[in-house]
Amino acid sequence: MRVVVTGAAGFIGSQVTGALSGAGHEVLAVDAPRRSPTPVLARRTWDEVAARPGVTAVETDLAVDDLDPVAAADVVIHLAGRPGVRSSWGGGRAAAERDNVLATARLLAACARRPARLRPRVVVASSSSVYGSAPHRPNREDDPLDPASPYAVSKVEVERLARAAARDGLRTVLLRYFSVYGPRQRPDMAFHRFVEAALDGRPLPVFGDGRKSRSFTHVRDVVAATLAAAVEELPPGVALNVGHSEPVTVRAAIGVLAEVLGVRPEIRREAPVAGDAALTWADTGRARELLGWTARVDLAAGLADQIAWHRALRRQEAGAVVA
Ligand SMILES: NC(=O)c1ccc[n+]([C@@H]2O[C@H](COP(=O)([O-])OP(=O)(O)OC[C@H]3O[C@@H](n4cnc5c(N)ncnc54)[C@H](O)[C@@H]3O)[C@@H](O)[C@H]2O)c1
Repeated sequence: MRVVVTGAAGFIGSQVTGALSGAGHEVLAVDAPRRSPTPVLARRTWDEVAARPGVTAVETDLAVDDLDPVAAADVVIHLAGRPGVRSSWGGGRAAAERDNVLATARLLAACARRPARLRPRVVVASSSSVYGSAPHRPNREDDPLDPASPYAVSKVEVERLARAAARDGLRTVLLRYFSVYGPRQRPDMAFHRFVEAALDGRPLPVFGDGRKSRSFTHVRDVVAATLAAAVEELPPGVALNVGHSEPVTVRAAIGVLAEVLGVRPEIRREAPVAGDAALTWADTGRARELLGWTARVDLAAGLADQIAWHRALRRQEAGAVVA
């Protein structure tokens, strides 16, 4: 299977590329590391991804460059974009429009231009943020969408484009990821900030009062769902929740983190973020039915995994300074 992964220098994209390479697939890895808000980190991940067996890495800006080579695949897994609710207010809004909406529109158009029998299946990253805050029950895929930030609005647009392409004959699938964590998590995300602070002995920076709940989902589970969506015959344009079915409050997650680390961290409260949902809660019935997928990694094991990665990174960086 010839697979294209966009966003391959990113958190989820690098893990998906690694899993495909490990399974012996030929992968065209695509990214524009300079478009990442953390370009130095993206460049380092990009170099690691490019060195994997079976991987060809080609720097491509999806909003500008010729995408015909990117569309020449059996499957395109589209994970490139500008994530994050917080950064999408103000200056980040233009980046969300460019790297989420425009980039996806151009990619889908390139895939649709292929002769019908050569058109790839396209797996597109969406987000739980399209729902807004969940009501007092899990969010189902058919629930009305209520985006509350420029980022969430951009993902609703991405979904519309993918559904329109499906009506025109492209086999698209939308994966609504819920708060992904684990090794290589982005530095702007909560657990990354908490673990770094705890390892430095600093107070943990928490937005708001810590009562918000999330369906925290380990990246290993996210990779499994993404690879399953890449191979299963699915209704074109279908959306699937990819999230842990048990939401946990940020406070409770910090409790688990503290236990795994064996510390009693102080908390530093920061102003709440506009558009940040009070609760995200994934109903995963559809993913179970169509992909045979359910999240398996529990929070304590998943956080232990992420902490091990932060520690390894610190050892690596300390070694680089000594050498
Ligand atoms: N991490 C999460 O919890 C989460 C939750 C919901 C949805 N998502 C979505 O999943 C996808 C991957 O998220 P992530 O956390 O791995 O983000 P990430 O920022 O780590 O990775 C995104 C990658 O896309 C690349 N990119 C940006 N603009 C590009 C362009 N124009 N052309 C080519 N490459 C470009 C960046 O350089 C980066 O490497 C995103 O679409 C995101 O919105 C993530």
